[in-house]
Amino acid sequence: AIQRTFSIIKPDATKRNITGKVNAKIEEAGLRIIAQKRIQLTKEQAGGFYAVHKERPFYNDLVSFMMSGPVVVQVLEGENAIAKYREVMGATNPSEAAAGTIRAEFAESIDANTVHGSDAPETAAEEIPFFFSEDEIVG
Ligand code: CMP
Repeated sequence: AIQRTFSIIKPDATKRNITGKVNAKIEEAGLRIIAQKRIQLTKEQAGGFYAVHKERPFYNDLVSFMMSGPVVVQVLEGENAIAKYREVMGATNPSEAAAGTIRAEFAESIDANTVHGSDAPETAAEEIPFFFSEDEIVG
């Protein structure tokens, strides 16, 4: 089925000026970027978005990293988009990411891992409206 998933191009990628290279990978995989904006996350946004990780030891570093520069938030659409984008991203830890994936090619570390993508339909349904109103999504 056609699905929508939520994506973030993280500060390590905006810093290195490779957002276009990441988008090329997304589009080559057959996913369509149907909403996109470049923003600076506030502490409330970064902390709230990753609230599910609040008790994890990496939470504070994650929140400050996500505020360390601009991010590009996106909605991607396509056949089986949630699983497909996770495949295109590769494993969270770039040292475990399969060749050709975004994280294998571009990520610097498990923190500076270039992209985020929703892990399930329920997550996508929460993450998309966290950043986008319906009128900003043009499929
Ligand atoms: P992301 O998909 O954005 O979701 C949470 C992020 O936390 C993850 O990508 C990683 O960048 C970061 N992170 C840091 N350490 C870990 C860890 N041990 N396990 C999972 N995620 C981690």
